[in-house]
Amino acid sequence: MSEQTEILEKELEQLSTEYQNKTPQEILKYALENYPSDIAISFSGAEDVVLIDMATKIRDDVRVFSLDTGRLHPETYVFLEDVREHYNIPIEVFFADRDGTEKLVREKGLFSFYEDGHGECCGVRKLAPLRRALADRSAWITGQRKDQSPNTRASIPVIQRDPVFGNGNLVKFNPIANWTSKQVWDYIIANDVPFNELHEQGFTSIGCEPCTTRINPGQHEREGRWWWEEATKKECGLHSGNIK
Ligand code: ADX
Ligand code: SF4
Repeated sequence: MSEQTEILEKELEQLSTEYQNKTPQEILKYALENYPSDIAISFSGAEDVVLIDMATKIRDDVRVFSLDTGRLHPETYVFLEDVREHYNIPIEVFFADRDGTEKLVREKGLFSFYEDGHGECCGVRKLAPLRRALADRSAWITGQRKDQSPNTRASIPVIQRDPVFGNGNLVKFNPIANWTSKQVWDYIIANDVPFNELHEQGFTSIGCEPCTTRINPGQHEREGRWWWEEATKKECGLHSGNIK
């Protein structure tokens, strides 16, 4: 690491400490004001819609992107369209890697993840488009929260250097890292924010249709994702830096 990079790392750590107890809106304001031209919100089509609501109240030219794995629930596609219309913003959709997906499906079929784990499929359907979405960006915003996964997300900071993507300079903002699910839902109700109808059908955490299931009372939300796999591995690669 060069001396200059080390100084930048220290500044980022200080900034993260300074913003650790600030509100999501304050963190978003900092992000949108300091990376005005190329920052974007990574929107999964779930309750991370709160970020879009907050951001559009700060700026009306917010950039939002979604990774279309080709395996999302029909309700999620409907919701993406609702959000586009409700906030009058474009949603940049990045499709799965064509060659990689065709090769995987040709060789292993459409449900290989139940046998081989989700890594390979997420690699071509999520990571490849995320790399394209983040190319030439200096910062991105996610809806990760600590309470989403005691195993992998308990210590995510509100601002961090992206440990996986970018060329070493990419900054990752997690403005609602410290919020609980209840705080998110209180915000959604209080601000009349549109939400994915799957939430009314027993889905808490929402990802791809074949890899997401409803949870029972008492189960943790992450148990509804890749339910056939070990809890410590439940990151698809978008946030694999969370796995220590
Ligand atoms: S995942 O890694 O397990 O799929 P999760 O569903 O918890 O992630 O979502 C955490 C954050 O990752 C979301 O708030 C969003 O910022 C980003 N994210 C997850 N899936 C997508 C997607 N399909 N498109 C865009 N961003 C996504
Ligand atoms: Fe494939 Fe499932 Fe990953 Fe979606 S979540 S990309 S369907 S393995």
